[in-house]
Amino acid sequence: MKGIILAGGRGTRLCPLTKVTNKHLLPVGKEPMIFNPVKQLVSAGITDIMVITSKDHMGEIVRLLGSGRDFGCDFTFKVQEEALGIAHALLLAENFARGNKVVVILGDNIATCSIKPYVERFVRQGTGARVLLRRVEDPEHYGIAALDELKIVEIEEKPRHPRSSYAVIGIYMYDKEVFDMIRKIRPSERGEYEITSVNNEYIKSSQLCYDILHGKWADAGTFESLAYANQIMLAVNNQLSEEWNDVDADTI
Ligand code: G1P
Repeated sequence: MKGIILAGGRGTRLCPLTKVTNKHLLPVGKEPMIFNPVKQLVSAGITDIMVITSKDHMGEIVRLLGSGRDFGCDFTFKVQEEALGIAHALLLAENFARGNKVVVILGDNIATCSIKPYVERFVRQGTGARVLLRRVEDPEHYGIAALDELKIVEIEEKPRHPRSSYAVIGIYMYDKEVFDMIRKIRPSERGEYEITSVNNEYIKSSQLCYDILHGKWADAGTFESLAYANQIMLAVNNQLSEEWNDVDADTI
């Protein structure tokens, strides 16, 4: 299994904090934001990790993360020339993945619990994809899952009229087919190759499973959510919890 951290994008919602600094280098608790997704992957036993970012910020990201020795992993770095969406960025990791399954984390998704149990379920699942859901109060800002009793029937990106309050958060698990799925999709109205379109391709072939993420979580992409991410990380001293024994309760 390989790990991929997407740390590109323009961070426009956090301007002027992001005018010079890459969003994923901003402080969250006592550490730069990107440490959290790195620790998430390593906690799940994934130590071969590609970090994708823009050429403007690659220098600082490499300077911060180094080889990976300090985290117990190996980093590979890849430049994303244009910001054409999450799925577009993920396609850059095709050669790195080399036919392995991948766990993809958006670098601004901050969580207090280890993702290890979900990754273990994904391994047991065999083929297909797995996403993590979380109830949110502002569903129009996320990819939102329409659910029937057992499964996700569709995901809508930033819907005007959300069909549930379950957001698909920025931690995704895919089998080797993901890159062919990405080649099938078309850009959305905002001109981006959406990860939601990729997940909907998996739904079409009845291959998308989900878990409900435990612990605390934030998409630290706005001022309010960045402040919340700071609060939750300070409270746990930036340490991930591995208390996930009750994980079965909320999942299918
Ligand atoms: C992205 C995804 C969205 C997802 C969110 C989670 O949105 O497009 O589906 O729910 O991350 O953090 P963005 O934050 O890039 O607008």
